[in-house]
Amino acid sequence: MLCIRAFRGGCRGREAPHPLPKVMKKLLTGSWDNELPKIKRGNASWSGSQQVLDKNNSNVASEDYIMESDENLSHEKHGPVWAWNEWDPLEEVIVGNVNGATVPPFTVEVKANTYAKHWEFFRKHGGTSFPEGYLKKANAEIEEFCNILKHEGVEVKRPDNMDFSQVYQTPDFESCGMYAAMPRDILLVIGDEIIEAPMAWRSRFFEYRAYRSLIKEYFKGGAMWTTAPKPQMADELYDQVYPIRSVEDRHRLAANGQFVTTEFEPCFDAADFMRAGRDVFVQRSQVTNYMGIEWMRRHLEKKGIRLHTLSFKDPNPMHIDATFNIIGPGMVLSNPDRPCHQIEMFKNAGWDVIHPPNPLISDDHPLWMSSKWLSMNVLMLDPKRVIVQSTETSIRKLFESLGIECIPVNILHANSLGGGFHCWTCDIRRNGELESYL
Ligand code: ARG
Repeated sequence: MLCIRAFRGGCRGREAPHPLPKVMKKLLTGSWDNELPKIKRGNASWSGSQQVLDKNNSNVASEDYIMESDENLSHEKHGPVWAWNEWDPLEEVIVGNVNGATVPPFTVEVKANTYAKHWEFFRKHGGTSFPEGYLKKANAEIEEFCNILKHEGVEVKRPDNMDFSQVYQTPDFESCGMYAAMPRDILLVIGDEIIEAPMAWRSRFFEYRAYRSLIKEYFKGGAMWTTAPKPQMADELYDQVYPIRSVEDRHRLAANGQFVTTEFEPCFDAADFMRAGRDVFVQRSQVTNYMGIEWMRRHLEKKGIRLHTLSFKDPNPMHIDATFNIIGPGMVLSNPDRPCHQIEMFKNAGWDVIHPPNPLISDDHPLWMSSKWLSMNVLMLDPKRVIVQSTETSIRKLFESLGIECIPVNILHANSLGGGFHCWTCDIRRNGELESYL
């Protein structure tokens, strides 16, 4: 399809491509490819000032416009949703937002996933807004993050605003919501399919609603849309007397394979999954149980994808992406504090297992819902470019030594809500094909 990309001098990277004319796919009609008007690529007289751009556009005078065909963008080949791994060139992403972010009520599953020093915070603020000052700063940081993504050529989408403090009741429980800050936690894209995770926290039961406007658009554009079985989240899903008092408790329980969620019904968060083409990895965590893993295993098997369960020496497993973050073909950041029990499988396959340096964030910066290891929770724009926390200079050096260009961004206050760049995003489209890396 013919597209126009406008390059203006001064911006850091290429701007997001805007397809012209905008193709609106009819609801439920055949394959994307057959629907598209095919316009042959040509580079004849339609641009007066064709130039070869370097990565920083440094040789482009302001107001120069270049027209080019975007046949190579995966949207044209595969439709609006397409991603098989964590590193193929990123074309479109959902970035979470802070609006309405509400502290979850202090239930047993929240207690099991948070650190004792913050329990008072949850007791006191559960059901009310996260501290406004933090939200304001986090919001500014995330807006800037979005701008940087756009300047790097990525199309950015945002969830709907919701009132998460609204209390809801089901036949099994009552709760308020939490936020739409971490799309990674709830949405998983595998190929042309977008999967809504069932979640495990009662405060996240209705979180999918913030993404429905977007998902319906992707569906109209031809994407597959799956919502995993909704859990009841009745009392039976939780070990009501899960005995957490100390870090030692946590180590002992985790080592024994004891978690706050039971096997009453399937549950999982999308962020416990890590994609590498034909192989996808998952961990049993406080929010992802074995039934949830089995549901996904059967589901993905149908697509020819193998789901492997990994385990780590982790006193508090929840969301794999600050523990084991795959950043390229055969390249994984493996948290040195949380060794992977199956690491030989990767080494035998010739993968580079990289131990990132200790995080540099200071002890007094509040991280209400995570550890400091958000430093390794990076977002790959492609195998050679990474979005990384600007203040984490040690890991930046590591990336540079690996020949990966760092794009430093500051989201320290956004980190306080429980996530880094990988958590704050969900890649909707990456340009690449299904391949085997193991
Ligand atoms: N539980 C992880 C840690 O504390 C944080 C993972 C955050 N990831 C996410 N997708 N929300 O290290």
